[in-house]
Amino acid sequence: MNIKKLIPNSNIRNWVGPFNDDEYYYDLGKSQAEKIIQWLSVKPEHKILDIGCGCGRIAIHFLNYLNEEGSYIGIDSNKELLSYCKDNITVLRRNFQFQYVDVYNRAYSPQGKINTQDFVFPIEDESMDIVILWSVFTHMYLTDIDSYLKEIHRVLKKGGLVLASLNLNNSFTKQQIETKKSHLDIKYFIADGLFSLDTDTPESGFAHDEDKVKELYWKYGFLIKEIKYGIWSSKELTGEFHDTIIAQKLTTKSCD
Ligand SMILES: C[S@@+](CC[C@H](N)C(=O)[O-])C[C@H]1O[C@@H](n2cnc3c(N)ncnc32)[C@H](O)[C@@H]1O
Repeated sequence: MNIKKLIPNSNIRNWVGPFNDDEYYYDLGKSQAEKIIQWLSVKPEHKILDIGCGCGRIAIHFLNYLNEEGSYIGIDSNKELLSYCKDNITVLRRNFQFQYVDVYNRAYSPQGKINTQDFVFPIEDESMDIVILWSVFTHMYLTDIDSYLKEIHRVLKKGGLVLASLNLNNSFTKQQIETKKSHLDIKYFIADGLFSLDTDTPESGFAHDEDKVKELYWKYGFLIKEIKYGIWSSKELTGEFHDTIIAQKLTTKSCD
């Protein structure tokens, strides 16, 4: 299947990143999907949940990878982005489903009626092998991440994996920001353990205290398998832009 035709116009794709260049949009999504497959050992028959799937930037690269047994479910709180996925991706493969969720996020869905902490994913218990959140926790408060991790724990099969990208604050990143060596200038104090790029719309980009984030994963019985540090915090590093946490559900019951 030729998936290059699934590059949305710039009005849509610029919602999910600085993507004026359509080739860059395509190539970055491709390389990130390849990393997801490699890092999480994704199999063609796996069931994937992509939370905050945007306009399917990553989803399209699974069209030629998942088989008929596998499935891809994307949910997003931005109606326009989600509609793009429904209208352009589901029509190609029925096992790629997308669902709009009416959740509030000041940066992406300010009309949203559901408070993030009250949101129950429209997904059955223990039905997913893989959950991904690429550049989504970076736009959420810690209390909201807490609720989402609880839900992720509910929907993942035992042994299932979750990959989430974040900007993790620790003594190294704070020092890099202070000495202007970071790519992102996340310097505004918002709350205990939370800094943002912007005070008017803090959801435009958060950095979360690394220890507080780890505690949330442990609270729900996730094993953090690996943290791949990204370059957001330092021009001296190489790798992905954000930090990436790969965690595994070990227990069947949430420790909440
Ligand atoms: C930076 S974009 C990333 C989109 C996609 N993951 C990608 O990498 O191209 C963040 C996405 O998260 C969605 N989002 C923000 N808060 C959300 C929430 N609480 N639940 C579901 N989606 C959310 C936004 O609408 C937006 O599409």
